[in-house]
Amino acid sequence: MSKRLGILISGRGSNLLAIADAIAAHRLDAEIAVVISNRLEAPGIALARERGLHAVALASKGLDREAYDHQLIDELRRSRVDLVCLAGYMRILSGHFIREFHQRILNIHPSLLPAFPGLDAQHQALEHGVKFSGCTAHFVEEGLDSGPIISQAVVPVLADDTADALSTRILEEEHRIYPEAIGLVLSGQYRIEGRRVRRNLK
Ligand code: GRF
Repeated sequence: MSKRLGILISGRGSNLLAIADAIAAHRLDAEIAVVISNRLEAPGIALARERGLHAVALASKGLDREAYDHQLIDELRRSRVDLVCLAGYMRILSGHFIREFHQRILNIHPSLLPAFPGLDAQHQALEHGVKFSGCTAHFVEEGLDSGPIISQAVVPVLADDTADALSTRILEEEHRIYPEAIGLVLSGQYRIEGRRVRRNLK
């Protein structure tokens, strides 16, 4: 039976769609059990519903982190989720949530971590003057964008790049590597040694 994903979003939802596309194309053996947005107006919620996915808008505004995360955990449990995938989820998770889904939370970040964690990573990369940037699929731990790295992809930073142009180039790679990373984790064919995620040899 396919493993069940819970996808957390706050906005546009293009990584969510990339995951749904990979499942539809049989490149990823999984089922999206629930999509949850902490922002009521997130465009990704409507997109998820158009695809016939179970999508829940659970407003976080005004709630403290622990209280909100308890609601999230309840919702994810109700949907019997095996793996939580953050896809543009703009809220820091509580330690309680992270312990509840220990090594079962993934994120996609638009830089080559550990460079440029946090907000506006593409802008940070441009400001810093790096010649290459990219994206990182990683496990989520308590430090911001800090968990063991599953995979990365590199893109060039061009001389006349804007943050938008760089973001678009990086996003294309996010859509490729995130479903692959999810597939690896769901397959169980890896082990975590310290900070290193190693693929098991076939
Ligand atoms: C992506 O750039 C992702 O790396 C970052 O937030 C953005 C989300 O985009 N964490 P989308 O909502 O998946 O289109």
